Amino acid sequence: MVFYVKQGKLTESRHTYDRKDEILKEELFGEDSFDGAYSLLYHLNEPTRVKSITKREKHMDEFPEEITKHMHIKAGKIKTDGSFLDSRKFILSNSKLRLGIANVTMNSEDFYRNSYADILLFVQKGNGTLVSPQGELSYKEGDYVFVPRGTTFRLVTNNSYFFIIESREHMDIPSRYLNKYGQLKEGTPYYSRDIRVPELRDPSNKNQNFKVYIEYDDYYMIEERDKSILDVVGWDGYLYPFAISVHNMAPIVGKLHMPPPIHETFSGKGFMVGSFLPRKFDFHPRSIPISYYHNNIDVDEVLFYSSGNFMSRKGIEEGSVTVHVRGIIHGPQPGTVEAAIGKEGTDEVAVMVESYEPLVLTKTGKEVEDPHYMDSWFQK
Ligand SMILES: [Fe+2]
Repeated sequence: MVFYVKQGKLTESRHTYDRKDEILKEELFGEDSFDGAYSLLYHLNEPTRVKSITKREKHMDEFPEEITKHMHIKAGKIKTDGSFLDSRKFILSNSKLRLGIANVTMNSEDFYRNSYADILLFVQKGNGTLVSPQGELSYKEGDYVFVPRGTTFRLVTNNSYFFIIESREHMDIPSRYLNKYGQLKEGTPYYSRDIRVPELRDPSNKNQNFKVYIEYDDYYMIEERDKSILDVVGWDGYLYPFAISVHNMAPIVGKLHMPPPIHETFSGKGFMVGSFLPRKFDFHPRSIPISYYHNNIDVDEVLFYSSGNFMSRKGIEEGSVTVHVRGIIHGPQPGTVEAAIGKEGTDEVAVMVESYEPLVLTKTGKEVEDPHYMDSWFQK
């Protein structure tokens, strides 16, 4: 993250104690060995206190398939429920990214930690709270919830439906949005004030049996613990979960159609996440306000359609995912350019992911693929 946060009670200096009869247990939570962003957390108990640890293989039912044409995946039709851990269904992946959905209908007392990936949750429906040792972060429909890898968390919700983006590369605010002090510049789609951080609650010192599921590629390591991990009295630093609402973002518009990178929201090595949001269309008197035909030479383009009227796409539903694969030209479907002329704006909300490494389709995605999508550009 780009700004410093300080909450609760801290020692006067790092790596020291203030009172010999109350030595806090300091944890460094940091990226890139000791060179990246980090926070220092002060626990009542040793964070290393683990009663037992066991390995559990994952049930791998996903047989990836190459994507050889444009695809419409009716992701809203995928059956998903249960806890955050169990409800996740991935539809697209490669060695760097996993994209999927989750309909979280159950709260678990257990915690979860991803050992390899940063997690970005786009909240399609519902609201809730992400609980971690750094505090409680509430979220609602239209939020992105960013969870840095290594964060131990659980969700408290009645029902939350997410579009999930997991990244093995670090996911960040685009560096071109930041000035030399790390502040979000004028002219970018969102500002530091729009970013919400966890609120630290009173520390818990209670005895409590629970598990932490730590995810690796094809297995979990499961810690059994007997003391609450919400025992942090204070923390400070630059690494923490945060949330930001698309409803607070200010999309950039122009005289002529603006290309997708103008809507970039987060980025990482080899990919970017963008947000198409309600906005006025281009103001040239003869502008064509939707996309021109294009062949993205280097990237696969994924769109998650959240809400609104998706003018350049036919047959798309809320919760749909399309993949426009590199090498094959795409663009507006027949009739949509003509229909767009004279329109003044859009109410669409969609999340875009562009990936330099080719994506593959999982078995789950394949099961809800619309077989006719490629034909939607052909008019007899
Ligand atoms: Fe495109």
